Amino acid sequence: MIFPLLWLLASAASPTIQSPEEMAGVLQDVQQLGISLANRNLSAIQKVLMAVAASNATNSTADNVLHGVDEIVNETLEPAVERDFSVAQDEISGFHELFLKCEEDQLSAFNHSVLDQKKIVHFAEEHLICRQHQVLLLDANLSCTTLLQAAKTVEDAKCALYERSRTVPEASVVCQAQAHEAPEAYHERKIKELEDSLAQLLTRRRDCEEAKVQAQMQSERCEKARQDLANGHKACDEKQLMVDSTVCALQTRMGVDCSAYDSCRKQAMASFMQANESVKMTEAELKATWTMLKQVRCMINGAKERSPLKVALCSKQRNFSVAHLIINYSTVPPFAPCQSLAEPPGSPQYMTALYGHMPPRAPASPCEASCCNLQVVR
Ligand SMILES: *[C@@H]1O[C@H](CO)[C@@H](O)[C@H](O)[C@H]1NC(C)=O
Ligand SMILES: *[C@@H]1O[C@H](CO)[C@@H](O)[C@H](O)[C@H]1NC(C)=O
Ligand SMILES: *[C@@H]1O[C@H](CO)[C@@H](O)[C@H](O)[C@H]1NC(C)=O
Ligand SMILES: *[C@@H]1O[C@H](CO)[C@@H](O)[C@H](O)[C@H]1NC(C)=O
Ligand SMILES: *[C@@H]1O[C@H](CO)[C@@H](O)[C@H](O)[C@H]1NC(C)=O
Ligand SMILES: *[C@@H]1O[C@H](CO)[C@@H](O)[C@H](O)[C@H]1NC(C)=O
Ligand SMILES: *[C@@H]1O[C@H](CO)[C@@H](O)[C@H](O)[C@H]1NC(C)=O
Ligand SMILES: *[C@@H]1O[C@H](CO)[C@@H](O)[C@H](O)[C@H]1NC(C)=O
Ligand SMILES: *[C@@H]1O[C@H](CO)[C@@H](O)[C@H](O)[C@H]1NC(C)=O
Repeated sequence: MIFPLLWLLASAASPTIQSPEEMAGVLQDVQQLGISLANRNLSAIQKVLMAVAASNATNSTADNVLHGVDEIVNETLEPAVERDFSVAQDEISGFHELFLKCEEDQLSAFNHSVLDQKKIVHFAEEHLICRQHQVLLLDANLSCTTLLQAAKTVEDAKCALYERSRTVPEASVVCQAQAHEAPEAYHERKIKELEDSLAQLLTRRRDCEEAKVQAQMQSERCEKARQDLANGHKACDEKQLMVDSTVCALQTRMGVDCSAYDSCRKQAMASFMQANESVKMTEAELKATWTMLKQVRCMINGAKERSPLKVALCSKQRNFSVAHLIINYSTVPPFAPCQSLAEPPGSPQYMTALYGHMPPRAPASPCEASCCNLQVVR
């Protein structure tokens, strides 16, 4: 696969050939070398180059063959190895990006979850304020009850007094003049007494009625206080549901993000392992090819010098540097831990963590959000 253009270039690479016989011989040799290079048949190449090295020093046809092979190695085969190396390197480097994409998605998910958590903190603060307000409403309800009892007591007393004054004890009153009292004086005194008694009766009746009105008004105030308290309690429960529901949404999102990250990593990992294997093989192949090309060049030099011994020694030489063909394998970034909630929603630990600091008289209600209900079902 590395030598597709070999034959074409080999044909074009033999410049100054005169006779048809020479032409035929060169082409035959070059064709043989080309096939041998393609097959990585070093011993076949060596055999041809040994023959060249052993041939006459003034054989220009042989030199043309050597030059042709040299050019093929320089201009086609070596660049092909380097090109294939960068393709393999790019393939592996690409995976770094792929893994990075997973991590970026995870980071953005983390950012979203941070936003959700901020929302939860905000809702939790609103909930706490609501519960504190609920305590005030409780106090109002309580003091109203006390005031109502007082008003009722006043009403009872005033009206009892009035009731008692209403029954005129006529029989028991002694309608008699006192000693030395003139009849006019007596009558005057009696009229005065009756007038006083009437005034007192009217005052007591008014007092009783006023106390009744006061008690009624207080009772209405208490009804309103009870209503306010009930509404306040309900409003706080709604705020609490807001907190718990947001926690549920966060939990769901964390689960979704987690499995998205998981499958992103799994997919990246699977294709990375596959590519890693194939690139590992390509790398070994390219190094071997490079070494072979260096050995061929060594043989060409030996052949140029017409030294069969040097050509023979070339196949033993293997210490050519392949440092530029070492693949920089991407390292797989560490697996980021999945986010999860520390306390399962609705659990006692959860209730303590989120609602442990509510006013004792206005504690949180049991968690009614969807994920808490699931918790209970389980
Ligand atoms: C190498 O080429 C020679 C002929 O030059 C042939 O006999 C031998 O089978 C070839 N070896 C391989 C491994 O292709
Ligand atoms: C030159 O060398 C080639 C082999 O490389 C051989 O086939 C040819 O006969 C030689 N020509 C002469 C004139 O010696
Ligand atoms: C080398 O070339 C000379 C003539 O140039 C010829 O006489 C001689 O036989 C050739 N030797 C070989 C080994 O081809
Ligand atoms: C091939 O490359 C080598 C070393 O880079 C050089 O010595 C030689 O002259 C080159 N040959 C050709 C035909 O370009
Ligand atoms: C996440 O938030 C940080 C700062 O809060 C920001 O620098 C970063 O770009 C964000 N990343 C993504 C993927 O949204
Ligand atoms: C509010 O006061 C009423 C009495 O007026 C009492 O029965 C009720 O329990 C109080 N409500 C609360 C929640 O304390
Ligand atoms: C990929 O291959 C290289 C080279 O063999 C190896 O060092 C590395 O551990 C491999 N990576 C994985 C994730 O298997
Ligand atoms: C490779 O080994 C040969 C001897 O076998 C030596 O002459 C040459 O300098 C060595 N080259 C390198 C790059 O080590
Ligand atoms: C290997 O690749 C990584 C990331 O692509 C890069 O940071 C590192 O510098 C490279 N190492 C070498 C020796 O090229």
